[in-house]
Amino acid sequence: MNLSDLTSINELSPDAVAEVLDLALRLKKEQKAGKEHPILKGKTLAMVFEKPSLRTRVTFEVGMQQMGGYALYLGPSDIQLGVRESVADVARNLSRWVDGIMARTFSHKTVADLAEYAEVPVINGLSDLEHPCQALADFLTIHERKGDLRGITLAYIGDGNNVANSLMLLAARVGTSFVVACPSGYEPDQSLWQSAKVTGETTGSRLLRVEDPREAVREADVIYTDVWVSMGQEEETDRRTRDFQPYQVNSELLRHAKPDAIVMHCLPAHRGLEITDDVLDGPQSVVLDQAENRLHAQKAVMGLLMG
Ligand code: CP
Ligand code: NVA
Repeated sequence: MNLSDLTSINELSPDAVAEVLDLALRLKKEQKAGKEHPILKGKTLAMVFEKPSLRTRVTFEVGMQQMGGYALYLGPSDIQLGVRESVADVARNLSRWVDGIMARTFSHKTVADLAEYAEVPVINGLSDLEHPCQALADFLTIHERKGDLRGITLAYIGDGNNVANSLMLLAARVGTSFVVACPSGYEPDQSLWQSAKVTGETTGSRLLRVEDPREAVREADVIYTDVWVSMGQEEETDRRTRDFQPYQVNSELLRHAKPDAIVMHCLPAHRGLEITDDVLDGPQSVVLDQAENRLHAQKAVMGLLMG
């Protein structure tokens, strides 16, 4: 695979996406069968976090261990990216010691700058613009549940945030149609929308925005939601909680969807806000498969970038 970093889904060709998903499935199968795969033996990953995490931290660390490598956690107070020293200097130093960098940052520019100045692969573990590893794990989950990704429809309900942006870009690459239901002012990133539209024309993926969540879910095979207030937006909590009230994923909304539609959420969920308990814990929910698949998808990404 001709790829040096994964900061955006836009860096993956449709062939590269297929390669990641294939390897993820193989590694998942091997791990379940107890077959070891030390493909990153002796390699080290630096994990740089400006924000909290459960899934990303655990899955990258466990993933490195399962591939024979080692992961080093660097929390918000350790490095202080751009405060104690510049992002470029951090990238240059880390490149002398480790074989890869995973970074969770506030500004997307920080992870992009790390990628520019590092001599080792940089993987985006969530920025304010994208969450590419989440989207790869999610499409692995959708593939396991629905088979062919081409020709199906994902309805994203709520905030057009980092998770929505990466799902939209990936949907366009694999031929899945993407319908977003969001209030005005909360649409996915405009320039990523345009690039997803262009990609979608080559794969048959349609891209649509509606205001009414019931209209979005009607034909959907997958219903996806995420928090209304992302990390770093806490001061907007009151306004956002008001604006997103009609966008809750609940059993009333599911009545307008196909009975075999699956429900997804990247977690952590704010139960009773963007999604109700009965839906999150209900028979259509696949949220724990998504969480598990973070491990397998990221092992594939690391294996291909750092192997
Ligand atoms: N979905 C996800 O990225 O979870 P964490 O914030 O816990 O890593
Ligand atoms: N959109 C959320 C995703 C958390 C995994 C956030 O950025 O906080």
